[in-house]
Amino acid sequence: MRVLLTGGTGFIGQHLLRALCAAGHGCRVLARPGSDLTPFTDLTLEVVRGDVTDPASLRGIADGMDVVYHLAAAGHVTAQSPDAYARFRALNVDGTRHLIKACRGSGISRFIHFSSTAAVGTVHHPIIDETTLCQPQTPYQRSKYESEQVVLAAWQQERFPAVILRPCMVYGPGGKGEFLKICRLMARGIFPRVGRGANLTPIVHVRDVVQAASEAATRARPGEVYFIASAQSYPAATIRRHVLAALGLRRPYPYVPLWLALAGAHGLETVARWTGRTPLVTRQNIRSTVADRMFDISKAQRELGYRPSVPLDEGIRETVAWFRREGVL
Ligand SMILES: NC(=O)c1ccc[n+]([C@@H]2O[C@H](COP(=O)([O-])OP(=O)(O)OC[C@H]3O[C@@H](n4cnc5c(N)ncnc54)[C@H](OP(=O)(O)O)[C@@H]3O)[C@@H](O)[C@H]2O)c1
Repeated sequence: MRVLLTGGTGFIGQHLLRALCAAGHGCRVLARPGSDLTPFTDLTLEVVRGDVTDPASLRGIADGMDVVYHLAAAGHVTAQSPDAYARFRALNVDGTRHLIKACRGSGISRFIHFSSTAAVGTVHHPIIDETTLCQPQTPYQRSKYESEQVVLAAWQQERFPAVILRPCMVYGPGGKGEFLKICRLMARGIFPRVGRGANLTPIVHVRDVVQAASEAATRARPGEVYFIASAQSYPAATIRRHVLAALGLRRPYPYVPLWLALAGAHGLETVARWTGRTPLVTRQNIRSTVADRMFDISKAQRELGYRPSVPLDEGIRETVAWFRREGVL
């Protein structure tokens, strides 16, 4: 297969790129002029310099390709300002539109769009599947949801062979996003138990996401959406126990009533608005944590043969060891 990737230099993209090359596929990578490709000198790649926000740079990008993986995106789950929304929209929504336009007529058999469970928003169903109504609220959630609308419209209006994958929080070596932030709070002993519930958290290892994405190239049905999450959501206390064990630390686990956590997050949001910074945590984060959300992955299991298989303790040990080697934890 000949495969084009956007976001191939990112966390998930670099794992996917290596897996595709290892499987013998020919890979073309769209990389921004400043993107660092030095970690990939051992791979045989075709590199095209461009930017998904610059339509002219995308001309002919998918010519000769069979499959496109679109991972390039920006976002921060706690960002809340209108500026953040404008930035996320320009890349996640308009960038997706430009890329689809550039891929039209190229003869690709699949366009695999990386969305996120964030597109669903903070809904209060205990078990969420692909039929659950999306209620995106934050800038990141809205931009991911709107990117899906662009993709689905292309399928509905012109049978553009697009597929949507919605991973939950992804962890693994190479990722310095949400999971690192959580690990830092745990390591400092400032990750509290909020409310009386289990705070079930969906989290998936990057190798499991890559397995799903690889299968999607041939098995996913165009026009369909698939959740790519862990088979179960884990109590926050379980994740914390594995992280602290991997760090060889013991830390207090203070209990914070829900009302107090929400009031604290409200304070952080207010300060963030004054300073123009992104808050460490928002009320939205807390509400989604205490909602004990679980994503039903049976559609991806059935149709893609998705088999999440990295055990949580092993994945966390490996990831924490990588954070340590990188000096970020
Ligand atoms: N990580 C997660 O937990 C998670 C969870 C659910 C869904 N997702 C989705 O999965 C995808 C990949 O996430 P990730 O965490 O791997 O992302 P990431 O590490 O932040 O990487 C983002 C990638 O996008 C590229 N990029 C940024 N702006 C670009 C532009 N204007 N034109 C072309 N490329 C551009 C970056 O290239 P440079 O090297 O130039 O910066 C980088 O390769 C995203 O769509 C994300 O929304 C991620």
